Amino acid sequence: MKIVVIGSGYVGTTLAALLATLDHQIIALDTDSQKVSIINSGKSPFYEEGLSELIKHSIVQGNLSATQDYGSAITNADLIFSCVGTPDKPDGSSDLGYIYEVAKSCAKYIKKGVIFVQKSTVPTGTGEKVSALLPDTCHYISNPEFLREGTAIIDSLLTDRVVVGGKNKQAVQKVIELHKQTLDNTEKITTITGIQLPDKAPEYKTNFVATNLESAELIKVSANAFLALKISFANSIAKLCDETGANITEVMDGVGSDHRIGRAFLNAGRGYGGGCFPKDVSGLIASSLEYGVDMPIMTAVTEVNQSMPGYIINKAGECCSGFVDKKVTVLGLTFKAGTSDTRRSPAIEIANRLSKLGAIVNAYDPEADDEAKNELEPNITIRPTLQASLKDAQIIFIATNWPEFTIENIQQVTKDKVVIVDCMNSLDSLAVRTAGFDYIGVGTK
Ligand code: UGA
Repeated sequence: MKIVVIGSGYVGTTLAALLATLDHQIIALDTDSQKVSIINSGKSPFYEEGLSELIKHSIVQGNLSATQDYGSAITNADLIFSCVGTPDKPDGSSDLGYIYEVAKSCAKYIKKGVIFVQKSTVPTGTGEKVSALLPDTCHYISNPEFLREGTAIIDSLLTDRVVVGGKNKQAVQKVIELHKQTLDNTEKITTITGIQLPDKAPEYKTNFVATNLESAELIKVSANAFLALKISFANSIAKLCDETGANITEVMDGVGSDHRIGRAFLNAGRGYGGGCFPKDVSGLIASSLEYGVDMPIMTAVTEVNQSMPGYIINKAGECCSGFVDKKVTVLGLTFKAGTSDTRRSPAIEIANRLSKLGAIVNAYDPEADDEAKNELEPNITIRPTLQASLKDAQIIFIATNWPEFTIENIQQVTKDKVVIVDCMNSLDSLAVRTAGFDYIGVGTK
């Protein structure tokens, strides 16, 4: 098959690279000339474990190429995946401009009987409107993506479910089959990338869910909204722990060991960020309102999340008698470890707030891209190494839980007594105190 994957972000690039390991011809289509040339040179346009290796392999094999040219790519396509961004507008609703643009651009060249698969996260009800822009002979399918940045390849291979929604049963089945082929190719993919799957991987069962279009769209948005809700729930309980002496990790270990609840996404800290949760929650609130449905539960989730950077800074500020002229190091700028992405990162917000409160802020992140610099207050200095960032620090905020931010690594550079503010509860408080530092966590003494 000739498959075109439109959009070379996290979802599109990972999908294109995985499909290219099968016996199909894959074209990655993007309007950004820089991304196109990076892919054609055998690399990933962003940091993601194993992705450059996978792209290099398929470029050398001749199964993958990238282009900016819609005409040449779409004219011969049997199957098209649309994986473009759906950023949020200032009012919180989803901007579907790219989604419609892609459909209109494809409509000019698309062959009869082509399957058009929407992978982008869209509000429920969008598919009907997009398919109206495509020729009647085209089969429109919703196949939302559930991978996470930083673990994109593993998540694609060990996925809990593949959701495929659409009117045409054969088209739905064809997309399911393509996913099954990719999963059957796991050994080849792990060999090329060197990615180690967990020991239990062979027992992993993927649920293939065939639904109607609207359900598929809503499954994706609801799943992200529910995960965001779990995080804000844990953060609300963490605030109560701070007042009572309960320990949030112990509480969530106990709560999460009920299999009906589950332990995942109950880690308290500085809150969620990134290109997905914040916009998907606000998009769900906005699109529900369009149907006359109020979602106060999700409004509360957003409010709790937005309160967390300020909450942690206040807690630390009380212990440190404020931040004016204090030398503060912020470790981690990305929205989570394992990615170079700083979009909506609570770590950036923490650094900026500290700077506005009068602190002299140094920052370090092992992977944050150049965008981080533009988002930071101008007087914050990004240091090239952990060691350089920690020099003379009086207070250290661990704002993203990168594995290198261990107490041993910090101790090697920081000899004086400093305060460690563990914004994601990633360190052992006892070990930190034993090493001679003061410790401040979230929902923990
Ligand atoms: C999220 C979903 O997890 C994916 O399933 C989904 O496909 C993706 O959005 C998407 O819609 O494209 P992602 O944004 O890459 O993936 O990152 P997550 O690992 O889910 O983390 C999101 C944020 O929540 C991070 O800032 C993380 O630090 C925070 N988080 C996560 C917590 O604060 N506590 C937790 O317990 C878990």
